[in-house]
Amino acid sequence: MAAAIPVNDTITPDMLGADPYPIYRDLRRDMPVVRIASIDRIVFTKAADTHLVKTSPKLFGSHDTTTPMQRAFRGHTLMRKDGQEHLKERAAMAEALSLDTIANEWTSVLTLIAHDYISRLPRGETVDLRPLLAEPLAARCLARILGLDSASDDDMQHWAPTLIAGAMNASRDEAVFQRCDEANDAMDACFNRMIDQFRKAPNSSVLSHMANAADPLPFSQMGTNLRICIGGGLVETRDGLLTTLFGLLTHPDQLNHCRSEQRWQAACEEGLRWVAPIQTSPRIALEDTEIRGYHIPKGETVLAAQASANHDEELWRIPEKFDITRTPIRHQSFGDGAHNCLGQNVYRTLISEIVLPMLFDRFPKLSLEDPSAIRFQGFGFRGPESFPVTLN
Ligand code: HEM
Repeated sequence: MAAAIPVNDTITPDMLGADPYPIYRDLRRDMPVVRIASIDRIVFTKAADTHLVKTSPKLFGSHDTTTPMQRAFRGHTLMRKDGQEHLKERAAMAEALSLDTIANEWTSVLTLIAHDYISRLPRGETVDLRPLLAEPLAARCLARILGLDSASDDDMQHWAPTLIAGAMNASRDEAVFQRCDEANDAMDACFNRMIDQFRKAPNSSVLSHMANAADPLPFSQMGTNLRICIGGGLVETRDGLLTTLFGLLTHPDQLNHCRSEQRWQAACEEGLRWVAPIQTSPRIALEDTEIRGYHIPKGETVLAAQASANHDEELWRIPEKFDITRTPIRHQSFGDGAHNCLGQNVYRTLISEIVLPMLFDRFPKLSLEDPSAIRFQGFGFRGPESFPVTLN
Protein backbone atom coordinates (compact mmCIF):
# COMPACT_ATOMS: atom_id res chain seq x y z
CA MET A 1 0.00 0.00 0.00
CA ALA A 2 1.25 3.50 -0.83
CA ALA A 3 2.57 5.54 2.10
CA ALA A 4 1.28 8.94 3.18
CA ILE A 5 3.50 11.80 2.05
CA PRO A 6 5.80 13.09 4.84
CA VAL A 7 5.13 16.63 5.98
CA ASN A 8 7.85 19.19 6.61
CA ASP A 9 6.73 21.99 8.90
CA THR A 10 10.04 23.77 9.41
CA ILE A 11 10.77 25.13 5.91
CA THR A 12 9.36 28.64 5.44
CA PRO A 13 8.87 30.73 2.27
CA ASP A 14 11.55 33.13 3.55
CA MET A 15 14.06 30.28 3.84
CA LEU A 16 13.23 29.15 0.30
CA GLY A 17 13.59 32.70 -1.03
CA ALA A 18 16.95 33.24 0.69
CA ASP A 19 18.63 30.00 -0.44
CA PRO A 20 16.61 26.96 -1.49
CA TYR A 21 19.59 24.87 -2.62
CA PRO A 22 20.72 23.40 0.76
CA ILE A 23 17.02 22.71 1.45
CA TYR A 24 16.61 20.92 -1.90
CA ARG A 25 19.78 18.90 -1.21
CA ASP A 26 18.45 17.66 2.14
CA LEU A 27 15.02 16.93 0.65
CA ARG A 28 16.51 14.94 -2.27
CA ARG A 29 18.39 12.83 0.27
CA ASP A 30 15.74 12.43 3.01
CA MET A 31 12.29 13.29 1.63
CA PRO A 32 12.29 13.47 -2.19
CA VAL A 33 8.49 13.67 -2.16
CA VAL A 34 7.35 15.99 0.61
CA ARG A 35 4.49 18.24 1.60
CA ILE A 36 5.94 21.61 2.65
CA ALA A 37 3.33 22.78 5.14
CA SER A 38 4.07 26.52 4.90
CA ILE A 39 3.29 26.61 1.17
CA ASP A 40 0.75 23.75 1.29
CA ARG A 41 2.23 22.02 -1.74
CA ILE A 42 3.59 18.56 -2.46
CA VAL A 43 7.10 19.17 -3.81
CA PHE A 44 9.14 16.83 -6.05
CA THR A 45 12.88 17.40 -5.92
CA LYS A 46 14.45 14.48 -7.88
CA ALA A 47 15.14 14.89 -11.63
CA ALA A 48 13.38 11.64 -12.55
CA ASP A 49 10.24 12.71 -10.67
CA THR A 50 10.05 16.28 -12.00
CA HIS A 51 10.51 14.84 -15.50
CA LEU A 52 7.75 12.30 -14.88
CA VAL A 53 5.37 14.97 -13.58
CA LYS A 54 5.95 17.20 -16.63
CA THR A 55 5.75 14.41 -19.19
CA SER A 56 2.77 12.41 -17.92
CA PRO A 57 -0.21 14.48 -19.08
CA LYS A 58 -2.68 11.74 -18.13
CA LEU A 59 -1.50 11.89 -14.51
CA PHE A 60 -0.57 15.56 -14.12
CA GLY A 61 -2.29 18.43 -15.93
CA SER A 62 -1.77 22.16 -16.22
CA HIS A 63 -5.42 23.12 -16.46
CA ASP A 64 -6.07 25.37 -13.49
CA THR A 65 -8.90 27.88 -13.47
CA THR A 66 -8.37 28.80 -9.83
CA THR A 67 -4.97 30.46 -10.24
CA PRO A 68 -4.79 34.26 -9.69
CA MET A 69 -2.99 34.31 -13.03
CA GLN A 70 -6.33 34.16 -14.83
CA ARG A 71 -7.54 37.38 -13.19
CA ALA A 72 -4.12 39.06 -13.52
CA PHE A 73 -3.57 38.15 -17.19
CA ARG A 74 -7.12 38.91 -18.37
CA GLY A 75 -7.71 35.31 -19.39
CA HIS A 76 -6.66 31.74 -19.23
CA THR A 77 -3.14 31.39 -20.68
CA LEU A 78 -1.81 28.50 -22.76
CA MET A 79 0.47 27.56 -19.86
CA ARG A 80 -2.57 26.54 -17.81
CA LYS A 81 -4.33 24.56 -20.56
CA ASP A 82 -3.97 20.98 -21.72
CA GLY A 83 -4.51 18.89 -24.84
CA GLN A 84 -5.78 20.30 -28.14
CA GLU A 85 -6.65 23.68 -26.69
CA HIS A 86 -3.07 24.11 -25.49
CA LEU A 87 -1.58 22.80 -28.75
CA LYS A 88 -3.63 25.22 -30.87
CA GLU A 89 -2.49 28.24 -28.89
CA ARG A 90 1.11 27.05 -28.77
CA ALA A 91 1.09 26.54 -32.54
CA ALA A 92 -0.04 30.16 -33.00
CA MET A 93 3.30 31.34 -31.55
CA ALA A 94 5.65 28.46 -32.34
CA GLU A 95 6.76 29.45 -35.84
CA ALA A 96 7.68 32.98 -34.81
CA LEU A 97 9.85 31.59 -31.99
CA SER A 98 11.39 28.72 -33.96
CA LEU A 99 15.14 28.34 -34.36
CA ASP A 100 14.84 29.08 -38.10
CA THR A 101 12.92 32.31 -37.61
CA ILE A 102 15.30 33.44 -34.88
CA ALA A 103 18.35 32.61 -37.02
CA ASN A 104 17.01 34.06 -40.28
CA GLU A 105 15.04 37.05 -39.09
CA TRP A 106 16.09 38.08 -35.63
CA THR A 107 19.77 37.38 -34.98
CA SER A 108 20.84 40.50 -36.88
CA VAL A 109 18.24 42.63 -35.09
CA LEU A 110 19.23 41.28 -31.67
CA THR A 111 22.90 41.89 -32.48
CA LEU A 112 22.22 45.55 -33.31
CA ILE A 113 20.22 46.02 -30.12
CA ALA A 114 22.95 44.38 -28.01
CA HIS A 115 25.60 46.51 -29.73
CA ASP A 116 23.61 49.63 -29.03
CA TYR A 117 23.04 48.86 -25.32
CA ILE A 118 26.57 47.55 -24.65
CA SER A 119 28.20 50.50 -26.45
CA ARG A 120 26.37 52.91 -24.16
CA LEU A 121 27.97 51.44 -21.01
CA PRO A 122 30.50 53.91 -19.51
CA ARG A 123 34.00 52.44 -19.78
CA GLY A 124 36.08 52.64 -16.58
CA GLU A 125 33.10 53.17 -14.30
CA THR A 126 31.49 50.93 -11.70
CA VAL A 127 27.80 50.42 -12.51
CA ASP A 128 24.96 48.09 -11.60
CA LEU A 129 24.60 45.93 -14.71
CA ARG A 130 21.10 44.81 -13.78
CA PRO A 131 19.25 48.12 -14.40
CA LEU A 132 21.86 49.40 -16.86
CA LEU A 133 22.09 46.44 -19.22
CA ALA A 134 20.43 43.15 -18.32
CA GLU A 135 16.90 44.39 -17.84
CA PRO A 136 16.54 47.04 -20.60
CA LEU A 137 18.32 44.78 -23.11
CA ALA A 138 15.95 41.91 -22.31
CA ALA A 139 13.03 44.34 -22.57
CA ARG A 140 14.01 45.68 -26.00
CA CYS A 141 14.82 42.28 -27.52
CA LEU A 142 11.57 40.82 -26.24
CA ALA A 143 9.53 43.81 -27.42
CA ARG A 144 10.91 43.45 -30.96
CA ILE A 145 10.42 39.69 -31.22
CA LEU A 146 6.93 39.79 -29.74
CA GLY A 147 5.99 42.65 -32.10
CA LEU A 148 5.51 45.31 -29.41
CA ASP A 149 7.75 47.91 -31.03
CA SER A 150 5.68 50.79 -29.69
CA ALA A 151 6.26 49.70 -26.07
CA SER A 152 9.19 51.49 -24.40
CA ASP A 153 11.78 49.68 -22.29
CA ASP A 154 10.16 51.30 -19.24
CA ASP A 155 6.75 49.97 -20.29
CA MET A 156 8.11 46.44 -20.63
CA GLN A 157 10.06 46.71 -17.36
CA HIS A 158 6.90 47.86 -15.59
CA TRP A 159 4.55 45.32 -17.19
CA ALA A 160 6.65 42.21 -16.49
CA PRO A 161 6.92 42.49 -12.67
CA THR A 162 3.33 43.76 -12.45
CA LEU A 163 2.09 40.62 -14.23
CA ILE A 164 4.31 38.39 -12.08
CA ALA A 165 2.99 40.04 -8.88
CA GLY A 166 -0.55 39.39 -10.18
CA ALA A 167 0.18 35.76 -11.03
CA MET A 168 1.56 35.21 -7.52
CA ASN A 169 -1.26 37.10 -5.77
CA ALA A 170 -2.49 34.05 -3.86
CA SER A 171 -4.17 36.23 -1.22
CA ARG A 172 -6.08 37.96 -4.05
CA ASP A 173 -5.21 41.45 -2.86
CA GLU A 174 -7.43 43.71 -4.98
CA ALA A 175 -4.80 46.50 -5.11
CA VAL A 176 -2.38 44.10 -6.86
CA PHE A 177 -5.05 43.15 -9.41
CA GLN A 178 -5.84 46.83 -9.98
CA ARG A 179 -2.22 47.51 -10.86
CA CYS A 180 -2.48 44.62 -13.33
CA ASP A 181 -5.68 46.12 -14.78
CA GLU A 182 -3.95 49.45 -15.41
CA ALA A 183 -0.95 47.75 -17.00
CA ASN A 184 -3.26 45.49 -19.02
CA ASP A 185 -5.15 48.52 -20.41
CA ALA A 186 -1.83 49.91 -21.64
CA MET A 187 -0.79 46.50 -23.03
CA ASP A 188 -4.11 46.05 -24.85
CA ALA A 189 -3.75 49.52 -26.41
CA CYS A 190 -0.23 48.57 -27.56
CA PHE A 191 -1.41 45.18 -28.94
CA ASN A 192 -4.25 46.88 -30.89
CA ARG A 193 -1.92 49.53 -32.29
CA MET A 194 0.55 46.91 -33.43
CA ILE A 195 -2.13 44.61 -34.90
CA ASP A 196 -3.34 47.50 -37.10
CA GLN A 197 0.24 48.03 -38.24
CA PHE A 198 0.94 44.31 -38.89
CA ARG A 199 -2.28 43.86 -40.89
CA LYS A 200 -0.86 46.44 -43.34
CA ALA A 201 2.79 45.48 -43.07
CA PRO A 202 3.39 41.99 -41.59
CA ASN A 203 6.74 41.04 -40.12
CA SER A 204 8.19 37.94 -38.42
CA SER A 205 7.13 38.85 -34.89
CA VAL A 206 4.90 36.74 -32.66
CA LEU A 207 2.01 39.21 -32.76
CA SER A 208 2.21 39.65 -36.54
CA HIS A 209 2.06 35.86 -36.99
CA MET A 210 -0.89 35.59 -34.63
CA ALA A 211 -2.80 38.53 -36.12
CA ASN A 212 -2.37 37.41 -39.73
CA ALA A 213 -3.05 33.70 -39.16
CA ALA A 214 -5.68 32.05 -41.38
CA ASP A 215 -7.73 31.20 -38.30
CA PRO A 216 -6.59 33.76 -35.72
CA LEU A 217 -7.12 33.35 -31.99
CA PRO A 218 -9.53 35.87 -30.43
CA PHE A 219 -7.84 39.14 -29.45
CA SER A 220 -8.24 38.34 -25.76
CA GLN A 221 -6.33 35.06 -26.18
CA MET A 222 -3.54 36.64 -28.23
CA GLY A 223 -3.17 39.21 -25.44
CA THR A 224 -3.19 36.67 -22.63
CA ASN A 225 -0.48 34.62 -24.27
CA LEU A 226 1.64 37.68 -25.06
CA ARG A 227 1.43 38.45 -21.35
CA ILE A 228 2.95 35.04 -20.61
CA CYS A 229 5.87 35.97 -22.87
CA ILE A 230 6.31 39.37 -21.20
CA GLY A 231 5.95 38.06 -17.62
CA GLY A 232 7.77 34.82 -18.39
CA GLY A 233 10.53 36.18 -20.63
CA LEU A 234 11.93 39.47 -19.39
CA VAL A 235 12.85 38.86 -15.76
CA GLU A 236 14.12 35.34 -16.57
CA THR A 237 16.39 36.57 -19.36
CA ARG A 238 17.79 39.23 -17.03
CA ASP A 239 18.34 36.70 -14.23
CA GLY A 240 19.78 34.01 -16.51
CA LEU A 241 22.30 36.46 -18.00
CA LEU A 242 23.43 37.84 -14.63
CA THR A 243 23.71 34.36 -13.10
CA THR A 244 25.95 33.22 -15.96
CA LEU A 245 28.05 36.35 -15.66
CA PHE A 246 28.40 35.72 -11.92
CA GLY A 247 29.58 32.16 -12.62
CA LEU A 248 32.14 33.34 -15.17
CA LEU A 249 33.42 36.32 -13.20
CA THR A 250 33.93 34.25 -10.04
CA HIS A 251 35.73 31.49 -12.01
CA PRO A 252 38.40 33.33 -14.05
CA ASP A 253 39.94 30.04 -15.30
CA GLN A 254 36.60 29.11 -16.85
CA LEU A 255 36.16 32.59 -18.29
CA ASN A 256 39.58 32.33 -19.94
CA HIS A 257 38.70 28.90 -21.32
CA CYS A 258 35.40 30.22 -22.56
CA ARG A 259 37.05 33.10 -24.38
CA SER A 260 39.87 31.13 -25.94
CA GLU A 261 37.67 28.19 -27.00
CA GLN A 262 34.47 30.15 -27.66
CA ARG A 263 32.54 28.04 -25.13
CA TRP A 264 29.76 30.62 -24.65
CA GLN A 265 27.07 28.05 -25.31
CA ALA A 266 28.40 25.80 -22.53
CA ALA A 267 28.53 28.80 -20.18
CA CYS A 268 24.95 29.74 -21.06
CA GLU A 269 23.65 26.21 -20.33
CA GLU A 270 25.67 25.86 -17.13
CA GLY A 271 24.35 29.19 -15.84
CA LEU A 272 20.79 27.98 -16.45
CA ARG A 273 21.49 24.65 -14.73
CA TRP A 274 23.34 26.21 -11.80
CA VAL A 275 20.53 28.60 -10.76
CA ALA A 276 17.26 28.02 -12.60
CA PRO A 277 15.61 31.41 -13.26
CA ILE A 278 12.18 29.75 -12.80
CA GLN A 279 12.66 27.37 -9.90
CA THR A 280 9.41 25.39 -9.84
CA SER A 281 6.35 24.68 -11.99
CA PRO A 282 2.91 23.68 -10.69
CA ARG A 283 0.80 20.78 -11.94
CA ILE A 284 -2.48 19.26 -10.78
CA ALA A 285 -2.83 15.52 -10.09
CA LEU A 286 -5.55 14.26 -12.43
CA GLU A 287 -5.72 10.77 -10.88
CA ASP A 288 -4.84 9.15 -7.61
CA THR A 289 -1.30 8.00 -8.28
CA GLU A 290 1.84 6.71 -6.60
CA ILE A 291 5.40 8.05 -6.92
CA ARG A 292 8.35 6.55 -5.01
CA GLY A 293 5.79 4.56 -3.01
CA TYR A 294 3.90 7.69 -1.88
CA HIS A 295 0.21 8.26 -2.50
CA ILE A 296 -0.51 11.44 -4.51
CA PRO A 297 -4.23 12.22 -4.19
CA LYS A 298 -6.24 13.34 -7.24
CA GLY A 299 -6.82 17.11 -7.22
CA GLU A 300 -3.61 18.03 -5.35
CA THR A 301 -1.50 20.89 -6.70
CA VAL A 302 2.10 19.68 -6.84
CA LEU A 303 5.32 21.58 -7.53
CA ALA A 304 8.00 20.13 -9.79
CA ALA A 305 11.21 21.79 -8.56
CA GLN A 306 13.32 21.93 -11.73
CA ALA A 307 15.95 23.94 -9.81
CA SER A 308 16.45 20.94 -7.54
CA ALA A 309 16.31 18.47 -10.45
CA ASN A 310 19.24 20.38 -11.98
CA HIS A 311 21.32 19.65 -8.86
CA ASP A 312 20.39 15.97 -8.58
CA GLU A 313 23.54 14.10 -7.51
CA GLU A 314 22.40 11.12 -9.61
CA LEU A 315 23.13 13.24 -12.70
CA TRP A 316 25.72 15.82 -11.72
CA ARG A 317 28.94 15.65 -9.69
CA ILE A 318 29.37 18.51 -7.19
CA PRO A 319 26.20 20.10 -8.58
CA GLU A 320 26.57 23.28 -6.52
CA LYS A 321 29.72 24.17 -8.48
CA PHE A 322 29.53 26.30 -11.64
CA ASP A 323 31.48 24.26 -14.17
CA ILE A 324 31.23 24.84 -17.90
CA THR A 325 33.38 21.79 -18.65
CA ARG A 326 30.70 19.30 -17.54
CA THR A 327 29.58 16.66 -19.98
CA PRO A 328 26.39 18.23 -21.30
CA ILE A 329 23.23 16.66 -19.86
CA ARG A 330 19.87 18.23 -20.52
CA HIS A 331 18.86 20.47 -17.62
CA GLN A 332 15.22 21.24 -16.86
CA SER A 333 15.36 25.04 -16.56
CA PHE A 334 13.22 25.44 -19.69
CA GLY A 335 10.73 22.90 -18.36
CA ASP A 336 9.91 19.61 -19.96
CA GLY A 337 7.15 17.92 -21.93
CA ALA A 338 4.30 19.69 -23.74
CA HIS A 339 4.79 23.02 -21.97
CA ASN A 340 8.55 23.33 -22.46
CA CYS A 341 9.61 26.94 -22.90
CA LEU A 342 8.72 28.50 -26.24
CA GLY A 343 11.31 31.24 -25.73
CA GLN A 344 14.37 29.03 -25.28
CA ASN A 345 15.70 29.63 -28.80
CA VAL A 346 15.51 33.37 -28.26
CA TYR A 347 17.32 33.15 -24.94
CA ARG A 348 20.06 30.83 -26.14
CA THR A 349 20.74 32.85 -29.29
CA LEU A 350 20.73 36.17 -27.48
CA ILE A 351 22.94 35.15 -24.57
CA SER A 352 25.36 32.60 -26.01
CA GLU A 353 25.79 33.91 -29.55
CA ILE A 354 25.49 37.63 -29.00
CA VAL A 355 25.63 39.17 -25.52
CA LEU A 356 28.34 37.15 -23.74
CA PRO A 357 30.95 37.32 -26.53
CA MET A 358 30.16 40.98 -27.26
CA LEU A 359 30.31 42.08 -23.63
CA PHE A 360 33.69 40.43 -22.95
CA ASP A 361 35.04 41.65 -26.28
CA ARG A 362 34.24 45.23 -25.34
CA PHE A 363 35.23 44.92 -21.67
CA PRO A 364 37.96 42.25 -21.51
CA LYS A 365 38.73 43.07 -17.86
CA LEU A 366 35.12 43.27 -16.69
CA SER A 367 35.16 42.55 -12.96
CA LEU A 368 32.77 42.26 -10.04
CA GLU A 369 33.03 45.11 -7.56
CA ASP A 370 32.62 42.72 -4.59
CA PRO A 371 31.61 39.12 -5.35
CA SER A 372 30.54 38.51 -1.74
CA ALA A 373 28.04 41.37 -2.01
CA ILE A 374 26.01 39.70 -4.79
CA ARG A 375 22.79 38.39 -3.25
CA PHE A 376 20.60 35.89 -5.06
CA GLN A 377 16.95 36.03 -4.04
CA GLY A 378 13.69 34.29 -4.88
CA PHE A 379 11.91 30.95 -4.73
CA GLY A 380 9.55 31.35 -7.71
CA PHE A 381 11.96 33.41 -9.81
CA ARG A 382 15.62 33.57 -8.78
CA GLY A 383 18.55 35.80 -9.68
CA PRO A 384 20.95 38.45 -8.33
CA GLU A 385 19.25 41.46 -6.72
CA SER A 386 21.93 43.81 -8.04
CA PHE A 387 25.14 43.39 -10.05
CA PRO A 388 27.81 46.07 -9.53
CA VAL A 389 30.73 45.63 -11.95
CA THR A 390 33.67 47.71 -13.11
CA LEU A 391 33.69 48.15 -16.89
CA ASN A 392 37.26 47.78 -18.19
C1 HEM B 1 16.02 32.28 -19.20
C2 HEM B 1 14.87 32.55 -19.79
C3 HEM B 1 13.64 31.69 -19.63
C4 HEM B 1 13.40 30.66 -18.77
C5 HEM B 1 14.31 30.07 -17.70
C6 HEM B 1 12.06 30.16 -19.06
C7 HEM B 1 11.47 29.09 -18.41
C8 HEM B 1 10.25 28.53 -18.76
C9 HEM B 1 9.67 27.36 -18.14
C10 HEM B 1 10.27 26.59 -16.97
C11 HEM B 1 8.48 27.11 -18.76
C12 HEM B 1 7.54 25.95 -18.48
C13 HEM B 1 6.51 26.29 -17.44
C14 HEM B 1 5.69 25.07 -17.05
O1 HEM B 1 6.10 23.94 -17.31
O2 HEM B 1 4.64 25.25 -16.42
C15 HEM B 1 8.31 28.13 -19.77
C16 HEM B 1 7.23 28.22 -20.60
C17 HEM B 1 7.06 29.23 -21.50
N1 HEM B 1 7.96 30.23 -21.83
FE1 HEM B 1 9.79 30.51 -21.02
N2 HEM B 1 11.53 30.92 -20.08
C18 HEM B 1 12.47 31.85 -20.47
C19 HEM B 1 12.35 32.78 -21.47
C20 HEM B 1 11.25 32.91 -22.26
C21 HEM B 1 11.12 33.88 -23.32
C22 HEM B 1 12.20 34.89 -23.73
C23 HEM B 1 9.86 33.72 -23.85
C24 HEM B 1 9.21 34.45 -24.99
C25 HEM B 1 9.81 34.93 -26.04
C26 HEM B 1 9.21 32.63 -23.13
C27 HEM B 1 7.97 32.14 -23.40
C28 HEM B 1 7.40 31.03 -22.79
C29 HEM B 1 6.06 30.53 -23.11
C30 HEM B 1 5.10 31.12 -24.11
C31 HEM B 1 5.85 29.40 -22.29
C32 HEM B 1 4.59 28.54 -22.23
C33 HEM B 1 4.71 27.36 -23.15
C34 HEM B 1 3.51 26.43 -23.08
O3 HEM B 1 2.75 26.45 -22.08
O4 HEM B 1 3.31 25.67 -24.03
N3 HEM B 1 10.09 32.16 -22.19
N4 HEM B 1 9.40 28.98 -19.76
